[in-house]
Amino acid sequence: MLHNYATNSSLWFYIEFKMTAKEIRQSFLDFFKSKNHKIVPSSPVVPQGDPTLLFTNAGMNQFKDVFLEIGERDYKRAADTQKCIRVSGKHNDLEEVGVDTYHHTFFEMLGNWSFGDYYKEEAIAWAWELLTDVWRLPKERLYATVYTTDDEAYEIWKKYLPESRIQRFAEKDNFWEMGETGPCGPCSEIHFDRTPDLSGAKLVNAGSPDVIEIWNLVFIQYNRLSSGELEPLRAKHVDTGMGFERIVSVIQNKNSNYDTDVFSPIINKISNLCEKQYPNDLNHPDGIAMRVIADHIRTLSFAIADGAFPGNEGRGYVLRRILRRGCRYARNLGFMEPILYKLVDTVIDTLGDTFPELIANKEVIQKIIFGEEESFLATLDRGLAKFEDIISKSDTQQNKTIKGEDAFLLYDTFGFPLDLTQLIARERNFAVDQIGFDKQMQEQKNRSRKNRKETSIEIHIPSTEFHTEFTGYNELSSEGKVLWVEDNKIILDRTPFYVESGGQVSDTGEIVIAGTKYKIADVVKSGNARIHISEETFEPSLGVIALASVDKIKRRKIMKNHSATHLVHQALFNVLGSHIKQAGSLVNEEYLRFDFNHFEKLSKEQIKLIEEIVNQKIIEEIEVQITEMKLDEAAKNPKIKMFFGDKYGDIVRVVTMDKNYSSELCGGTHVRNTGDIGFFKITSESAIAAGVRRIEAITAPALQFYIENLQYLVNQKISEKDELIEKLKSLEKQLEKVKIQELQNSVDDLIKNSRDYKGIKVLTMKLDNVSIDELRAVGDEIRNKLAKNSIGLISTVVEDKVQMCCVVTDDLKNLYPAGKVVGRAAQFLGGGGGGKPHLATAGGKEVSKLQELLDNFEKIALE
Ligand code: ALA
Repeated sequence: MLHNYATNSSLWFYIEFKMTAKEIRQSFLDFFKSKNHKIVPSSPVVPQGDPTLLFTNAGMNQFKDVFLEIGERDYKRAADTQKCIRVSGKHNDLEEVGVDTYHHTFFEMLGNWSFGDYYKEEAIAWAWELLTDVWRLPKERLYATVYTTDDEAYEIWKKYLPESRIQRFAEKDNFWEMGETGPCGPCSEIHFDRTPDLSGAKLVNAGSPDVIEIWNLVFIQYNRLSSGELEPLRAKHVDTGMGFERIVSVIQNKNSNYDTDVFSPIINKISNLCEKQYPNDLNHPDGIAMRVIADHIRTLSFAIADGAFPGNEGRGYVLRRILRRGCRYARNLGFMEPILYKLVDTVIDTLGDTFPELIANKEVIQKIIFGEEESFLATLDRGLAKFEDIISKSDTQQNKTIKGEDAFLLYDTFGFPLDLTQLIARERNFAVDQIGFDKQMQEQKNRSRKNRKETSIEIHIPSTEFHTEFTGYNELSSEGKVLWVEDNKIILDRTPFYVESGGQVSDTGEIVIAGTKYKIADVVKSGNARIHISEETFEPSLGVIALASVDKIKRRKIMKNHSATHLVHQALFNVLGSHIKQAGSLVNEEYLRFDFNHFEKLSKEQIKLIEEIVNQKIIEEIEVQITEMKLDEAAKNPKIKMFFGDKYGDIVRVVTMDKNYSSELCGGTHVRNTGDIGFFKITSESAIAAGVRRIEAITAPALQFYIENLQYLVNQKISEKDELIEKLKSLEKQLEKVKIQELQNSVDDLIKNSRDYKGIKVLTMKLDNVSIDELRAVGDEIRNKLAKNSIGLISTVVEDKVQMCCVVTDDLKNLYPAGKVVGRAAQFLGGGGGGKPHLATAGGKEVSKLQELLDNFEKIALE
């Protein structure tokens, strides 16, 4: 049960002292500023240059290098509010989220630090001062914990608290570590007692919502090595962390973080959207769902704002799991359509002024979340039905355990992350065979590995001591001593041959030894040596000087494409936004390929703009600058792009093309001047996965081929068009013939219906959809078929006018010349015309009188 802890002794404080969350955050920073701390910005939730972490999990992450003495700052004290995500690795609170009211996947950590400056005495004194003097929390509600053997901290706490409220705990609670490796040390925590009768002593560190940890003061003294050993640091540091959302709940006298102004706008929005009240009962499923969603939407918004997108691997998959969990809870609340994205506005309303990156990336955040929701909802219902199917199977019922293969099916076919299946299973009192699932997963990986083309070459080298100096940044041809030879493989002490790395393909070329030329088809790295692989077998030549030359033309093309890749990376950044992160690349002699995170297809205009920017940089003929610096120095410079998929050494190479335009960590080979690239053209743009786009492009050397290809296509189109016109014409002619044939056939019918006028056969008829030429053709046919004693009038209506053709057999053409006959008929219709005695045509205006004319033709035209 939760309690209201405003006992009589402290009630005055809550009445007088209502701070908003924003004011609480500010007062923390102001307090430490008054103690000479530098207030620094939060680092992004995506760690910068730290491969040991998926997400920033503590305020101290950005100072790890200082604690490890590999980096320095120009201040000795700092404070901030740090954006943290704890969903993976050593610190993972996912399972508690929503079920309780004070764990979050995303939270702000208020922190203050001493880098070899003040230590336990001040850290404890200032924590006490802020909590009890500035924020005036009731002292009788505070407990301190210290590490089992930390008498020093214990003695200091005795100045502020009775010994009954100072407790000692072992490693699990009071020795803080950042991850599997890294800075660590004993810590002292402050806990807050919410019980009405101040009976919380036994509840410290017991997982009770009635007594919660609010502040952790870590005394950093060691570095945990990957061997597990603790290496003492030369200096002693302070690293503190206070959960912002928790301290707000304490100061605002709320029993739940979700009742504070940090969360209530989001909870209210969810409650309005689903038209359900936020329940008072902590265990009510609607309440759990609303809390989970409110929590997860903050995590997603911040992660995306800092450039981490939902995806299939690593960090991306963690986000996808969170999102899908959120979707499923939304379904529990009755939402059938995407809804999470609708909450982004509210997150931004509550936090946008503290973290403006939310505002800057609002559209991206909304679009990505919407897209992910939409695609998961497409399979969610079928997946849930499948789940029901699975748990109704008799053996599953019996063991109350979902089999690994079934969990894998839900994962593979319906996109259910394992933890989602576990969550739903738990609700139904089923377990999931995780080992079986992992096995299935491994088998799938093995299958796809087998399917992948084997590209790595097994190379046997007797020793890895060999060292090859790479000369290829400056030379395309170098002399080197032969260090090792075996069959078709050779190691030299110097070589210009580049080995595939950072997307750039390996060089090919030749090695000349004692007048014999060997073609080099590939190069691979082994330790510090580069092994050249030939199609031929090398003669024994240990110690001989060889001349190694790369295929210069090919290599120059590769360099142009590689430099163009840097230019386009920045252009994408400028045109599409700062969320653009490289997701992979390929650079060879033919083209370049660049994959990046983006949520929608690029428009024609965007592509054109990107091409224009890159070509502008080429026209500017910018000198390409290469510098070397320490990794942590580069990591501090936000202008320098790093690709987190790459591993970098301590000293890194920075390639700059106009220091205000593009700087990137890169070990590849580049042109000396952007002008050398010549020209840049994007040849395709496509999606390779949800949220990942791929562009392919070419530079000047490929242009001739590209244009020839275009020309060929255009010519092909033109000749195709000519052919089509010809074809059309002949088809039209054919059609005409067929039609006339049909009309002529209808003449037989006409003859059958002929009338008799003074012994003469008279035929009249109206035809539909015929031209004047066709009328004539029908007339000719009548004359052919009725060689004598006949007169015919055939008519049609074209564009509101009557067209007529009169035919007269030769024996009657003197008595009834067709020209005259048709003239009279036309007169009846208010028109005129004439022609030869055997066949004549005419037109008339009064269409309404045509039928009368046809019925009374003899009277009107022959008498
Ligand atoms: N780094 C410490 C923590 O995260 C303060 O708890």
